[in-house]
Order: sequence, then C-alpha cells, then structure tokens
Amino acid sequence: MEYTKADFGDDFKWGVSTAAYQVEGAHNLHGKGPSIWDTFTQKGKRIAGNHNGNIACDFYNRYVEDILLLDQLNIREYRFSISWSRVIPTGSGSINKAGLDFYNRVIDLCLQLNITPWITLYHWDLPQALEQKGGWVNREILFWFSEYVQCCVTHFGDRVKNWIILNEPMVFTGAGYFLGVHAPGKKGLNNFLASVHHAALCQAEGGRIVKELNRHNKVGTTFSYSHINAASSHDKDTIAATKVDALLNRMFIEPLLGKGYPIDGLKILQRLEKFMHDGDEKKLAFQMDFIGLQNYTREVVAHAPFMPFVKARIIKADKRKVDRTVMNWEVYPPSIYHALKRIDAYEGVKEILITENGAAFKDEVDNNKVLDKQRTEFLQNYIAQVLLAKKEGVKVNGYFVWTLLDNFEWAEGFHPRFGLVHVDFDTQKRIVKASGKWYSEFISW
Ligand code: FCB
Repeated sequence: MEYTKADFGDDFKWGVSTAAYQVEGAHNLHGKGPSIWDTFTQKGKRIAGNHNGNIACDFYNRYVEDILLLDQLNIREYRFSISWSRVIPTGSGSINKAGLDFYNRVIDLCLQLNITPWITLYHWDLPQALEQKGGWVNREILFWFSEYVQCCVTHFGDRVKNWIILNEPMVFTGAGYFLGVHAPGKKGLNNFLASVHHAALCQAEGGRIVKELNRHNKVGTTFSYSHINAASSHDKDTIAATKVDALLNRMFIEPLLGKGYPIDGLKILQRLEKFMHDGDEKKLAFQMDFIGLQNYTREVVAHAPFMPFVKARIIKADKRKVDRTVMNWEVYPPSIYHALKRIDAYEGVKEILITENGAAFKDEVDNNKVLDKQRTEFLQNYIAQVLLAKKEGVKVNGYFVWTLLDNFEWAEGFHPRFGLVHVDFDTQKRIVKASGKWYSEFISW
C-alpha cells in the first residue's frame, strides 16, 4: 500500500517513546533513590548478559544532544517517563529538587524546540523503598501513587498537557509479580492478583487526579495488546485462546471502561474478589481522553492441560517458523489493525493513540551507517495497517515508534536493539539508522 503522512490528516501525531530506566542511567546521582529495577539488576543472573541500566544511554547527562536529535529528525511528539524515585527518592515523603530540575530542563528544552512532551507517570521503576513495604501488592500503593501523581502534575503541569498514567500494567504485574522475570521478581497467583487490582485502581485514580488538577490536561493510559489466534479450530484451542485473550488483552481496559474484570473469559479472575473493597468496582472506572495502544506481534495459543490456571500455552514464533524479530516475536502487521478495531469497538473509548510499536533486529554498523532495511519495512507495513483501520473509521490519532535510542531492554539487557538511532554503549556514540532517516522524511512531508 502506497501512502503518505497526509493520508492520516493534519491532526495525527507522529512521535517516539522512551522510558526512564531504559535510557537515563545516572541511577544513583543527585539524590535519586533506588528503584526495583536498580535492585533487581544488581542481583545477577536475572538479566541477559548480566546487564543493568546504571548507565544505559546516559540520557540523564546527554539529554540535550538527544533532544536536539529529535528536533533534527523533525520528531515533534516525545513520550518519556518520569523516574518516581528520582523525584521522590523513597516513593512517598520528601521531594528531591535535583530530580524535579532534571525533568524541568528536559521539558523546557522540548518546548523551546517545539517538541510536545508526553509524560508517562509509571513505566515500571517503582521506588525500592515502596517495594520493601509490599509494592503493588500493598493496597497502600493507592496513596503513594496519588501523592506521586500530584507531585508530577503540580510541578510540570503548567507546561505538560499530555499525561499517561501507566505503561502496560499487564506486563509489569504479569512479569514482575507472577512469573518473577521482571522486577521485583515476585511470583504466585496471590501476588499477581493483588498487584493487578491495585494497578487497576491506580490507573483510574491517576486519571482522576490529572483531570482534577487541570481539566484542560489530556490524560490516557497504555495497554499492551497482541492479536490472538487459536492454534487450530478445535474447541480446546479456541477456548485456550479466549482465556489468554482475557488475560493479556482485556484485563485492564475493561474495568477502566466500567465493565469489571473479564471473568467470563477466565474464571480464575473471580479470585480478584478477595482484594476488592466496597465501592471498588466504581473506583476502577474512569473516562480517559485517550487509550494508548502498544502492539508488536500476535500470539498463537494452544490448549495445554498441565499449564496452571489457564490451561493454555503460547506457541513461540520460532516454533511456527514465521518471520520474527530478535525478541522471537512474529512480524505480523495485521495484528495492529485487529488491535485498533477491537479497542475502537468498546463503548467509551474516545481516541486511540499507538503509543508503542517497533522492532528489534540484528543491526550492523558499517562505515558509520546502519542500513536496517527490516526495521524500515516493519514500520512501513505496520503503519499501513494503522491507516487501513483509520480509513475504516477507527478513532486512531497518533503513532509513536518504540523507540528513539537502542536501550536497556529489561530482562533481555542491551542485546535487542529497537532504536531508530544506534547507540554504541561503550562510547555512547549515536548513529541515526536508515529507519530513523526514513521515519524522519516520512513525517516531514
Ligand atoms: C514494551 C515496553 C517497552 C519496551 C518494548 C519493547 O512492552 O513498554 O518499555 O521494552 O516493550
């Protein structure tokens, strides 16, 4: 499909996304407190290559260079997250002025260059001091989180108009509190369900606070979404796919929209009741201005009788011999189209932004160039599917590439490179990849 930026309309936002822990580094500088990712990565053997984000892309010290690069690439929308423990070192209580100053400088430079900041309040780096008190498993998080949201909106809200409450709650609760493969490394159904319920309450409460402090603020929150297919047309596989869909795709958006948890799709979620207090059902609901949709791949699901709780398993891309990225995620552009159609069909969704989409491939630097044809094609093909959905009337109004710079990819360390810009982690040298040049030209027309 041939298309240009004009096909998306003048209002459509084109940007890039990053996250504090993945790029900032400066993990213990100028009063910053440790986060669960600082702690988790220090414990060894949990992260591929034993990597950590202590330095990452050194964005904390190089933000001027990196934001100038955004300007040079004509990227006018920049989504980044605030490190909670940089602004409130112990998560609750005294504020670190140096932390606020850093984000003030980032915001001011963006605005000076006519780049619109989009702040994600929580992109997974919970202050360690709060984890010591139970973290997302402790219902007190509602107070801690409210205090943090108020702090950010009060200090930055005079200049920042676009707010995102949580980044992919299903991933940080599932990987961090059920499977234990992300920080803080907790496991088990009770930890998981408690963290789910508290995150779902915080996502709505965060939205309320952002709007109460200034009704002109635009507020949204993000969800991971993968289109799901059953491995076969047998009933057992179809049922397995329905369950995984409830877990991965419906868990957080439905309570937000006032529909409650998707218990019809996954019975075990009834156990969430244990964590519900009187009035919670209502508190879970909030009308966001936009939904941030984050899509990378699709999942193919088969019945698996021995798998606890869901009796289902995901068949990885290499086992299916399909086109895949370094993450072993299938390259499947229609997934983003299906995601958009599905989210758009929910009553109460006002606007959708694709707040993340992108791919990690094996990049090679040759003569100061990175000719990452696969990534350019990936972006072109996924963006074409976004246009297809838009033409069918889906209320999608923005697209942010994950990500600006190659960075610290959580449990996978530095190996998967998602950036439009290559980073040499020894020298911190940046090279704009061919995909970055393509994106820049595409959005400049
Ligand atoms: C998403 C995360 C983001 C990044 C991409 C590849 O799930 O939100 O931080 O790691 O995946």
